[in-house]
Amino acid sequence: MTTEPPLELDNFFATIQNPYPTYTYLREHDPVHWNPMFNCYMLTRFDDVHMAFFDHQRFSSDIWSSVPEVIGFAGDDESSQQLRQIIPFMAYNLQGMDPPGHTRQRALMTKTFTPRMIESFRPTIQRLVDELIDAQLEHGRMDLVNDLAYPLPSNVILDLLGIPRSGRPYIQASAEAINEFVATLLFTGPVVWPRLAGVFADVKAYLKQLIAQRRAEPGDDLLSKMVQAEEGGDVLSEDEIIIATNFLLFAGHETTANLIGVGMYHLMQHPDQLEYLRTNPSSIPIAIEELLRYVSPVHTLARRTTQEMTMRGVTLPENASIFLLVGAANRDPEKFPDPEKLAIHRAPTRTLGFGYGIHYCLGAALARLESQVAFETILRRLPTLKMLVETPEFRPNYSLRGLKSLPVAFT
Ligand code: HEM
Repeated sequence: MTTEPPLELDNFFATIQNPYPTYTYLREHDPVHWNPMFNCYMLTRFDDVHMAFFDHQRFSSDIWSSVPEVIGFAGDDESSQQLRQIIPFMAYNLQGMDPPGHTRQRALMTKTFTPRMIESFRPTIQRLVDELIDAQLEHGRMDLVNDLAYPLPSNVILDLLGIPRSGRPYIQASAEAINEFVATLLFTGPVVWPRLAGVFADVKAYLKQLIAQRRAEPGDDLLSKMVQAEEGGDVLSEDEIIIATNFLLFAGHETTANLIGVGMYHLMQHPDQLEYLRTNPSSIPIAIEELLRYVSPVHTLARRTTQEMTMRGVTLPENASIFLLVGAANRDPEKFPDPEKLAIHRAPTRTLGFGYGIHYCLGAALARLESQVAFETILRRLPTLKMLVETPEFRPNYSLRGLKSLPVAFT
């Protein structure tokens, strides 16, 4: 099959509403595409993205630690000092590290994130979903994104961590600051750093006193478990716990929100499949795997090459920035027959929705549980859902692709 080149190949923001024609073109004609606008190579085929996830030695996740030197802010001036407050939150969370640092921290974090702990949270998740629906029930309408899909995962993680209500704004602000830093780095640069550095300083101060409290009086929560985690005599340092706390909210919030929000949008566009799930809720877990493939809530990830190499005839220099287009790989016809079709019975194996290899999503079980409870409860309690807009708008975020809002009515 040959396709016409879409008008836009490089500007992620221009194609956010429907990037799939671009992905089809790139997969077929230019699977290792140089993007001059973002200074990166884009991989779009399943096998290539899969290989880059797997080969962590040649495709490094350590993309942030050298940023101050690369962009010329590693001195003693004020902007450099602000950047030094921000970068650790990007560079020393699990996702931004390579072995051996990653292996060590992942082993300690895995001890806290046990399947039993996640499953024990099911009643809390059910209560949170019910409360969010209850709050809108009498209006006969709600915004499925802003009234449910967005608040649910952040409340779940903050409850799981055991962060008191009064402290939540600190963690929420710092998780949002990661997004803002990434989104503005190329465009506005240092202008926003004084504010972002302040946000990170505040969350650090807040969590320091909370960690001290949990050390003295541990509870059942995830923060206490991180404080207590030990592996071969090794423990997580205070800074590591602070960065991990912030990252868990970042990693688990918009990702899960996008699966639920964009997933509901596509199900409403396929009323037969939605109806099937309403009457057969036991099929929801399989449907979630297909939605994960179809939606790809984590749409684009970055890596850095550690050596020069050739891929499909293209030479990638050392230290090149590589974008893994998970959204394109998950619709590769070589891997998934008829990939542009949503088919909830497909039970796709090995989608790249949660990544692959050493960085495979640590929160996958929690994300699956949350979305199962959310889809099941929405379908059961709101059986007459009707979308109030024809084409909802996507947020201008090409990495975590999700909807701005999804207004619906019900009786
Ligand atoms: C539908 C929801 C979610 C999706 C689609 C998703 C997807 C992903 C993907 C693709 C990665 C790999 C990143 C990479 O290779 O660079 C990842 C890593 C990670 N995710 Fe998730 N995630 C979701 C929910 C969550 C939740 C709820 C949490 C925890 C609260 C979480 C915590 C993490 C962590 C800590 C990592 C880093 C693991 C590592 O680097 O070793 N995620 N996730």
